[in-house]
Amino acid sequence: MPSRVQRAVSNAMSATNERYPAANTMVIFGASGDLTNRKLIPALYNLAADGFLPKDFAVIGFARRAKTDESYRDETYEAVKEFSRSKPINETVWQDFAQRLHYAQSDYGNPDDYEALNVRLQEIDKAHGTLGNRLYYLATPPEAYRTIIEHIGRSSLCKDCQGSWARIIVEKPFGNDLESARELNTHTHQWFREDQIYRIDHYLGKETVQNILVFRFANGIYEPIWNRRYVDHVQITVAEDIGVGNRGSYYDHAGVVRDIIQNHMLQLVALTAMEPPVEFAADDVRNEKVKVMKALRVDSSRGDGTIRGQYGPGKSGNALVKGYTQEEGVPPESATETYLAMKLFIDNWRWAGVPFYVRSGKRLPKRVTEIAIQFKMPPLLLFSDKMGQQIEPNTLALNIQPDEGISLKFGSKVPGSGEKIMPVIMDFKYGESFNVPAPDAYERLLLDCMLGDSTLFTRSDEVETAWAILDPVLQKWERGTGSFIELYRAGTWGPKQADDFIRADGREWRVL
Ligand code: BG6
Repeated sequence: MPSRVQRAVSNAMSATNERYPAANTMVIFGASGDLTNRKLIPALYNLAADGFLPKDFAVIGFARRAKTDESYRDETYEAVKEFSRSKPINETVWQDFAQRLHYAQSDYGNPDDYEALNVRLQEIDKAHGTLGNRLYYLATPPEAYRTIIEHIGRSSLCKDCQGSWARIIVEKPFGNDLESARELNTHTHQWFREDQIYRIDHYLGKETVQNILVFRFANGIYEPIWNRRYVDHVQITVAEDIGVGNRGSYYDHAGVVRDIIQNHMLQLVALTAMEPPVEFAADDVRNEKVKVMKALRVDSSRGDGTIRGQYGPGKSGNALVKGYTQEEGVPPESATETYLAMKLFIDNWRWAGVPFYVRSGKRLPKRVTEIAIQFKMPPLLLFSDKMGQQIEPNTLALNIQPDEGISLKFGSKVPGSGEKIMPVIMDFKYGESFNVPAPDAYERLLLDCMLGDSTLFTRSDEVETAWAILDPVLQKWERGTGSFIELYRAGTWGPKQADDFIRADGREWRVL
């Protein structure tokens, strides 16, 4: 066991440096998986390279495949080389980082393996000075979550040991619908308090997503017009050019609604629409998000209020690509949606009557995530009819990725003797204003969890409220009374019905 003095020193270091966490060991369940290799390990390495990891830190990879510490380190080196944002690898940092990586070949369902893990963790505490603090990361397929949580809970692994902390990070999707999310919450709460549970949504770790709140609440000029009196509608797009790749069997059970809409998309809606929190503290921010989610509903005045699509064969750039049902792991008769568009309303004083159009899909023409606020037209159009010209509405676009920035479109007089008006853009680009690369979302979130800051993680009621918004739609789909799945060609902006859907309201999707 760590001595009082050791703990006090570590806690003091963490307290004097606001972004320097206390010593800890992170156990990664699913250590051989894609997420671990592509995101978690590179994020940890980058944190180490930037000096944010505690000096006393270790990782144990917990997974089924047979590996030694050495072979795990070699494999990890390759992952960092390929996926780290900072290249080339700094060999000095790597050498120090690598000797903190360990591997435990284990079976998620075997209680003995959790007892062996406990012994291993105690040895690591001695070797690395990690003080009994534990961070359990569930990076496995979601079907394994219940088993792992239960085995951690029933074993002698530290859940909340005296003087040390234990936290658990659970990847999305958290549940499959409202009922299963509630059930998973209840199950997890048997062994972990809510403040120990970190439900991760990596969108919240993106710099530009965090900037939505800074933009709104650290500036005085936007809030007065951020409401139903001035906003005509909001459009949020999460478009991907990639297909499902080698994740077909996972994706076929999820579809875009569970993969993107229930989590990333509803988070973007909540951050755009929420009221200012009393303080920038975890529960204050999450209370406001929950409030706005409670007021959210899918507009079902036409059909079930959704347009669903599935990509067929087509193009990605210049390359010919397969259709969804030809992808590896996808049944040829699959009726899973890879595209969804819908209209949401927020029944509260700020937003009543303002439509939020959201759309997301795979194999669209480009990767782009954007929130666009379209403002109402001026009350009197002095310059339109006479000059035979159409004036365009003001639009504020928050570009989340890949061209991170914010732009405002407004009308300007074209120089000359006439009164010709043209839309122009006032543009802020992250890359140009801050000449530093943004850290990956996982870096921020892993660090926050080590620091015990859950602001950017979803709370149990938040995740359930998000499911409650979509549950009626999912139930209609299950009963076969929902929208049909329309095919769209890979490389296009989704099914034609999605255009008709927004045009029926006299509006158009933005051209991105
Ligand atoms: C993940 C989804 O959560 O987000 C993937 O499971 C999707 O299907 C990815 O591709 C998109 O994330 P990003 O950061 O590339 O926008």
